[in-house]
Amino acid sequence: MSAAPRSSRSTTPAPKQPRSRGRVRAGAVVVAVANQKGGVAKTTSVASLGAAFAELGKRVLLVDLDAQACLTFSLGVDPDTVETSINEVLLGQAEVGDAVIECAEGVHLLPSVIDLAGAEAQLLGRPGREFALRTALEPVLGDYDIVLLDCSPSLGVLTLAALTAAKGLIIPMPCEMLSHRGVGQLLDTVRDVKRLLNKDLEVVGVLPTLFDGRSAHSQAVLADVGERYGLPVLLPPIPKTIRFAEAPAVGRSILTTAKRSKGAAAYRQVAEGLAAKFWPTA
Ligand SMILES: Nc1ncnc2c1ncn2[C@@H]1O[C@H](COP(=O)(O)OP(=O)(O)OP(=O)(O)O)[C@@H](O)[C@H]1O
Ligand SMILES: [Mg+2]
Repeated sequence: MSAAPRSSRSTTPAPKQPRSRGRVRAGAVVVAVANQKGGVAKTTSVASLGAAFAELGKRVLLVDLDAQACLTFSLGVDPDTVETSINEVLLGQAEVGDAVIECAEGVHLLPSVIDLAGAEAQLLGRPGREFALRTALEPVLGDYDIVLLDCSPSLGVLTLAALTAAKGLIIPMPCEMLSHRGVGQLLDTVRDVKRLLNKDLEVVGVLPTLFDGRSAHSQAVLADVGERYGLPVLLPPIPKTIRFAEAPAVGRSILTTAKRSKGAAAYRQVAEGLAAKFWPTA
């Protein structure tokens, strides 16, 4: 594959990432970041948590499952220049290793392209379509500690494929009025996926995003969210700050563009909490 980097990155094939600190582990923890509501910070969370896990010495693969290719773009890769993408991987026409790109901040990316919408339509007619991602990722799971799946704002076949491939689900949710609408439907889908496709799937938690600490309303939504659905809440909440808007334009996450910002610190803390959960003995 070849993707003309917009930023100073090496090109493919991406070399294997160095072993993470601590024990050598059997295979990556695969985590889907999903919410069918648009604009809740799924992509921002995948890019930022990915960079935070890499800072912790973890080998990270980020997977762009959205035909808008926002994650691909925000990691400094122009989707128009990607020759081998998640598209061919899902359709069984390429191996994951042929498509993976090494990006800045020490993360690897399985990129998307606008054609992914076409791949989704093709997948629909295929048997075992929900298993396409799980099967495709299997050969590289030993090369990574964590794989984060950036889902599109829908509960379509690609999100089902992500939930089938994943061990955990993180649900980003803005601390705004009515932002929890639709979570019930997502949890119904999780129940069906567990019953029919992937009994190991667990909701890791709700990740409060776009949090305005000065607003009593934000505080009230945060207090309500976990209780309402009986789900863990991943803390601290991610503050709402303009610094997030700047990061994708330079192909880096906020952890690089605004290293010492509150937003970067919050994602680092969430990643540390998740690391303690995923690798308790590390
Ligand atoms: N904590 C934050 N503070 C301010 N702006 C934010 C924050 N997190 C994300 N944003 C901005 O909100 C917008 C939506 O974020 P993002 O693209 O990550 O959401 P998404 O859930 O992936 O959207 P989609 O459903 O379209 O895929 C972006 O412009 C992003 O820069
Ligand atoms: Mg997105």
